[in-house]
Amino acid sequence: MGEKILPRKEILDQYIERTLKSKKAYEEAKELIPGGVGSGYRYIVPYPFFIKEAKGSKFWDLDGNEYIDYLMAYGPLIAGHAHPVIVEAVKEQLEKGSLYAIPHEKTVEFLRELKKRYPMLDMFRLTNSGTESTLHAIRLARAYTGKDKIVKIEGCYHGMHDNVLVSVEPRLGAAGPRWAPSVIPDSLGTTKASLQDVVVAPFNDIEVMERIFQKHEGEIAAVILEAVMMNGVGVIPPVKNYYQDLRKLTDEYNVLIIFDEVKTGARVAYGGAAELYNVKPDIVTLAKAIGGGFSLGAFGARKEIMELVTPLGRFLHGGTYNANPLAITAGVVTLKKIMTKQAYRYLHKLNEEMVKGVNDLIEDTGINASVTSVSPMGYIYFPAMKPKNYREAVSRVNMQKTIDFWFAMLNRGVLIWAPCQMEQWNITMAHTEEDIQYTLEKIDEAFQQVK
Ligand SMILES: Cc1ncc(COP(=O)(O)O)c(C=O)c1O
Repeated sequence: MGEKILPRKEILDQYIERTLKSKKAYEEAKELIPGGVGSGYRYIVPYPFFIKEAKGSKFWDLDGNEYIDYLMAYGPLIAGHAHPVIVEAVKEQLEKGSLYAIPHEKTVEFLRELKKRYPMLDMFRLTNSGTESTLHAIRLARAYTGKDKIVKIEGCYHGMHDNVLVSVEPRLGAAGPRWAPSVIPDSLGTTKASLQDVVVAPFNDIEVMERIFQKHEGEIAAVILEAVMMNGVGVIPPVKNYYQDLRKLTDEYNVLIIFDEVKTGARVAYGGAAELYNVKPDIVTLAKAIGGGFSLGAFGARKEIMELVTPLGRFLHGGTYNANPLAITAGVVTLKKIMTKQAYRYLHKLNEEMVKGVNDLIEDTGINASVTSVSPMGYIYFPAMKPKNYREAVSRVNMQKTIDFWFAMLNRGVLIWAPCQMEQWNITMAHTEEDIQYTLEKIDEAFQQVK
């Protein structure tokens, strides 16, 4: 999104002055790696900074600058960097083997924890990422319903496979009418055939959804959506009763709901967004926070759906690294020892302080901005807005100001959210009140600089 816009000169000069070693590392990396980054979303102009090490709520770059980290690896580090309980448990497991590909008991211990958080799900399979979780969930929905098409929400991101890497960031001029958005591939190499299985709908619009269900009656296996839209610029929560209405509609048309809780699971509440919004999805996809920083994902559903999975049924799911003991160990201690019910109270308290502090600063400085938050994540929109869907956000956001603010924060030692500017702050168990207070001071200065 904003990764190709430079900040204004005085902010840019300061960034370059602070990150000379990163610049050199980037010059070398870009010879071997496109853009010098391991994932397209990490690239920024003029060049990305490189990290040296991290601990708790902080990290240090190659030039020795210290930062408070609210990116937290795009979400997985719910306990912060190198949490001692996770480090200890994983070290111990490492001595006993890093990969078995043979069943082991810790998997059940881990899944019992997930089941407590998602009582509507009976069985699970584990994966290594959010991409894998959504890929299997969609195929499983097709297997169960015998139908091919899926409805995908414009601006939602579900990973890197063909059916969902569409209309994540469509150009508004090419995106078609609001009531019938075009299906726009986000990447070269997407087959035309795969596009035919996808219908795109706007978020928070039950009437358009109903029209789509009517038009494609008998063809739609599932609707997949981010439980809270967090990849379509900032934080876009569901409008009141959206999920209740969607549940009614999907039941009427015999369509499954795939709730993508990759970002929200084990994060927005003990039972994720399903608990927060009191929804009973048919299939839930998870990753990120459930693994405490290790590659761990899952998909789960009711028994009658999961009984299709081999060897019980003929839905094939496999993977060499699935249920690997290092990730499971990290997941077990993250869910059982760190992310207890009490832990969520701590996260929400810090987040409340952050939101209140930013709102006060907006008022004091008179800057045209607003905050939206689904705790413990949040985003500052320039100018003030409360978008309900991708188009409302993208058509109004002032990307130059957003980028100036992001670099102004970075120059003051705070990585406030992801370089792509679509994402939001992540408050974790490693953050402290002092971190929040320091961050608010820096936001005050940055507001003064960019307003
Ligand atoms: C909602 C959502 N689903 C799926 C994914 C893909 O997860 P991964 O990057 O682990 O493949 C992401 C990644 O950001 C996500 O935010």
